[in-house]
Amino acid sequence: MIADADSIGTLVDKERGLVSREIFLSEEIYQQELEQIFARAWLFVGHESQIPNPGDFVLSRMGDEPVIVVRDRNRRVHVFLNSCRHRGNRVCRYDQGNTSVFTCTFHGWTYDLEGKLTALPFHDGGYNDLDKPAWGLWEARSELFEGSIWGCWDESAPDFREYLGGTELYLSALLRSIDGTPGGAEVLGGVQKWRIPCNWKVPSPDTDRTHGWITHKSVDAVNIAPSGQGRRDRSDRGQSYTVNFPEGHTMSMTLPREDAQPYRGSWASTPIVGEYLDHAYQERKKKMGALASTQCAPGIFPNAGSQGGQPWVIRIMHPQGPTTTEIWSYFLIDRDAPREVKEIIRDYYGRYAGPGGMTQQDDMENWHWSTAASKGTISRRLPYNYQLFVDEQPLHGPSNFGLPGLFCSITSDENHRRYYQRWAEFMAAKSWDELRVHEHVK
Ligand code: FES
Ligand SMILES: [Fe+2]
Repeated sequence: MIADADSIGTLVDKERGLVSREIFLSEEIYQQELEQIFARAWLFVGHESQIPNPGDFVLSRMGDEPVIVVRDRNRRVHVFLNSCRHRGNRVCRYDQGNTSVFTCTFHGWTYDLEGKLTALPFHDGGYNDLDKPAWGLWEARSELFEGSIWGCWDESAPDFREYLGGTELYLSALLRSIDGTPGGAEVLGGVQKWRIPCNWKVPSPDTDRTHGWITHKSVDAVNIAPSGQGRRDRSDRGQSYTVNFPEGHTMSMTLPREDAQPYRGSWASTPIVGEYLDHAYQERKKKMGALASTQCAPGIFPNAGSQGGQPWVIRIMHPQGPTTTEIWSYFLIDRDAPREVKEIIRDYYGRYAGPGGMTQQDDMENWHWSTAASKGTISRRLPYNYQLFVDEQPLHGPSNFGLPGLFCSITSDENHRRYYQRWAEFMAAKSWDELRVHEHVK
């Protein structure tokens, strides 16, 4: 193993805030990540609104594995490896659809919506003793959380809520509709997917609040906010923090001012949207208090990011090799929002984020060149610097806010330091017993 308990300290030095470039470049480390992280962690695979009816399915990914997310006749959701148990062919080739069976195109093995092998040619007489129940589609553990769907390959991993730790509260807030109705979000349109030549960990840790003022200066200059004023609305700015969790999850959060009107003004040119969002936000405040913040969007270790407010998005960084990442963006909207509101917001999301969105393009440019300029014989010997506020003592949640998580200043690199330390823990751990977090900061 490249990264084991003895060598890991040379790759990630949390105390000094230094991380080796090798973890973003090495093929050997990448292969080890697939085993140590993606085969053990809980991973986001989709949203229930993508598969509302029995027989609905959508393809997704878990690490380097293609998976099928499907709702069976009893409305139960399953996550299957999209690989035929016979000779490994892709059993489902459509991105999404509705079906009653999955029939492999190679030799015709056929599986039902519960993954059971129900039919295969030459069964009579040919495979007299084939144990059909043992040859069903390989199924991941799966859990639903307020509309989101998560999968995990590891039987010894904790259940999903334990895995979330203190972020359960924040993920729930993210997945509510804007008026605070639990699980009231739906995916708006299809999933936007695109590839970037950088390691999956570059865009994964939430949040780097020190890049925007320069990376996104061009976006600010051209005024792509809905109102045509600046990058997006800033009127709900209260006190902002980076927040991290022992489980490796990270978040930025703004505790809104009492008089916050996050949507007023920014949607002035489209009053139907402005009025809808404004009313919904007032309802949200009544129900959720401090958690009404539109900037309360956790990143769930290892590769799920999110953004609150507008755009409102869950973003998954799928690994495709040490220096290739496929980003999948699930834009969210209130399920019950008027159609016209959804249409206008969809246009804005596309303009702002996703592969054609200007903000995303700013980021991609820098992530790409950070990778390209780190690959050289000399450059890859030098560590990356995560030393901003390296000596800062986190403000513990309970004493200050009554909210879970370790709160640090918004410009601290502490989220990155904690994220890479958790990465190192996963890479060195022989089993989940070594990874369980026994004490949550709540
Ligand atoms: S590989 Fe699927 S039936 Fe043979
Ligand atoms: Fe950015």
